[in-house]
Amino acid sequence: MPVHILAIESSCDETSAAVITDGKVLSNIIANQTVHEQYGGVVPELASRAHQENIVPVVDQALKQAGVDRKDLNAIAFTQSPGLIGALLVGSCFAKALSLALEIPLIAVHHMQAHVLANFIEDPKPAFPFLCLTVSGGHTQIVLCESPLSMKVIGETLDDAAGEAFDKSAKLLGLPYPGGPLIDKYAQTGDPRRFRFPEPQIPGLNFSFSGLKTAILYFLQQHQLQDPGFVQANLADICASVQERIVSILINKLVKASKETGIKEIAIAGGVSANKGLRNALQQQGAKLGWNTYIPKFEYCTDNAAMIAITAWYKYLAGDFAGLDAVPSARAAF
Ligand code: KG4
Ligand code: ZN
Repeated sequence: MPVHILAIESSCDETSAAVITDGKVLSNIIANQTVHEQYGGVVPELASRAHQENIVPVVDQALKQAGVDRKDLNAIAFTQSPGLIGALLVGSCFAKALSLALEIPLIAVHHMQAHVLANFIEDPKPAFPFLCLTVSGGHTQIVLCESPLSMKVIGETLDDAAGEAFDKSAKLLGLPYPGGPLIDKYAQTGDPRRFRFPEPQIPGLNFSFSGLKTAILYFLQQHQLQDPGFVQANLADICASVQERIVSILINKLVKASKETGIKEIAIAGGVSANKGLRNALQQQGAKLGWNTYIPKFEYCTDNAAMIAITAWYKYLAGDFAGLDAVPSARAAF
């Protein structure tokens, strides 16, 4: 009999549900919450409310698209941490209720572990051990993966995440939230060497992006004093230069991690791995240094339930189930 698992992701501002059957993702429905755009960032209370509205139709659609009846489900998985607590509670309560009603086991998934395992949804998959640079709106980590469920963070940001660096830079440029994809878009036609932003000297494999944000702020203030139309006239070059620096900070640490560990299986994950500059730089470095590189398909890079589903599949195989007393947590290590 095939094993069907329903997975739910509700850690931030995407309500998503996916069905995985014997390790193969059959559906991945994502409802984006546009309500936050006017506030320039995710408003936690509004996110919880939108999850509550979206969760039933999103789950119904995921089951329908997969052609799986609710009664045939073998387990239900949910994102336990990290994330906005009110948002996580919606997914976890829904999953618990369904687990009770259907008398099927519950699987609790760590969102950051799931971002890494997004690389296992489709072929080719990385071989173990591999390194994964996980870059999202809330996290920037280099993770050493020994097996699907055995991972160690060997480097992380000391302040802002890479996604925040993109979004905050975009805000300074007057672009709407989330600005990361817009910086990426304008950077396409810009000169990445026109403006030089400083690269922080952080020891080891850790990152820092707060200095860059300050440097961009002063740079813009100085130029706009002389020419109020500076940003508008130079938007593409500024975006390309900002992106170039964020990407170089990320890639340089990844090169260091690869040299220190001797690992040449290199993956990226998380929302920022959708960035074209990062994807190109990874491929170029990879070709130069003899890496095998892995980048998930776009829909598996940003928050989605398919990555929760693939993680749940490995947990199902390992018999790693959660009790009804499992509590979501805003922050938790893995
Ligand atoms: O993983 P994700 O969807 O959500 C979190 O768990 O945070 O990542 C969202 C982040 C946002 O900061 C967004 O601006 C950034 O990923 N992002 C991008 C791109 N697409 C999404 N940043 C740069 N370039 C992109 N193309
Ligand atoms: Zn995420």
